Amino acid sequence: MRTQVAIVGAGPAGLLLSHLLAADGVESVVIETRTREYVESRIRAGILEHSTVELLESAGLGDRLRREGDEHRGIYLQWPSERHHIDFHDLVGRGVWVYGQTEVQKDLGRARDAAGQQVIYDVRDTTVHDPEDPYVTFTLDGVATRLDADVVVGCDGSFGPTRSVVPGRTWQRTYAYSWLGVLAAVAPSTDELIYAWHPDGFALNSMRSPTVTRLYLQVPAETDIAEWPDERIWDALATRLGHGQDGWKLTRGPITEKSVLPMRSFVQAPMRHGRVFLAGDAAHIVPPTGAKGLNLAVADVALLAPALVALLLEKDSRLADGYSDRALRRVWRCTHFSWWMTTMLHAGGDPFDAQLQLSQLRWVASSVAGATGLAENYAGLPIGF
Ligand code: PHB
Repeated sequence: MRTQVAIVGAGPAGLLLSHLLAADGVESVVIETRTREYVESRIRAGILEHSTVELLESAGLGDRLRREGDEHRGIYLQWPSERHHIDFHDLVGRGVWVYGQTEVQKDLGRARDAAGQQVIYDVRDTTVHDPEDPYVTFTLDGVATRLDADVVVGCDGSFGPTRSVVPGRTWQRTYAYSWLGVLAAVAPSTDELIYAWHPDGFALNSMRSPTVTRLYLQVPAETDIAEWPDERIWDALATRLGHGQDGWKLTRGPITEKSVLPMRSFVQAPMRHGRVFLAGDAAHIVPPTGAKGLNLAVADVALLAPALVALLLEKDSRLADGYSDRALRRVWRCTHFSWWMTTMLHAGGDPFDAQLQLSQLRWVASSVAGATGLAENYAGLPIGF
């Protein structure tokens, strides 16, 4: 097989890249190790930045998002006995959208189907070869296959095979805690997300729709989910989110999914070697506290698509040559923001740190300068930042 751009990974980054390339007349083939059912149902992020929404809309992917998504003006920041609303709209003139990654994934899948895009699921043994004249080999139903391409893009996540052919430097931070995430079939108890600092550990009240609530608890790294029966989860959420405080109530309901998510920061640079490029989680991982992972992947692709169009159709390599540096500028901004939100909100066991966290939270919640910094980063910087 031969194509212009071989895309490894059919998550949001890979499918969006194929979509944007096709709109400009560049052909691609996407390969994916998982099944389509798996990628469309795995539970991931839920918050879209303003610029992510604009990009999806301008690419013709915004109809269901506008209909079924929910625009939020801001978030609540809280600590015991205090809850403060940070209004992004008032502070920076833009908000965020609650719309699950599963829904973005389905919208992309349908759009690619309608365009006749070749997406090959359920492949095995994917290997990327020869960064100067690249090709990808894989097996499909036991048959060895070779895909030649002008360019290969790894959108294959932090454990994918593409990164291994892109030499460079890496930076990492692992955190001593994880998140226990649950999905519950109950109406959200809050209109906007609540980020709660608590001496027992951080808690987050998020949502997916008017009937589905998404909740998280800080737990020690490597926690065994078996230690957390549903009752214990609801009790901890009620304590940390302040059930009963100023009349606020956390409504419980059936838990339909639960899992433990490790927290880490990871950056690889450069995000390119020869004619192999990386986008999204393949090059960087952020802890979920700032809701940046999916938005960063979209921002990478928004830079990479026009760069590849110029490279392949006009033989102009300037944007492609600048891609890694431009993308990394935003990556480090979001890496810092995610680390900052994480360290401000999670209990680490040190009483001095706890006082610093509370002081920082009070400053962010009460100072326009402090709140604006959070709002600008959370609602998202312009794609080209
Ligand atoms: C989510 O709804 O899954 C979510 C929301 C905000 C975050 C992280 C995760 O910061």
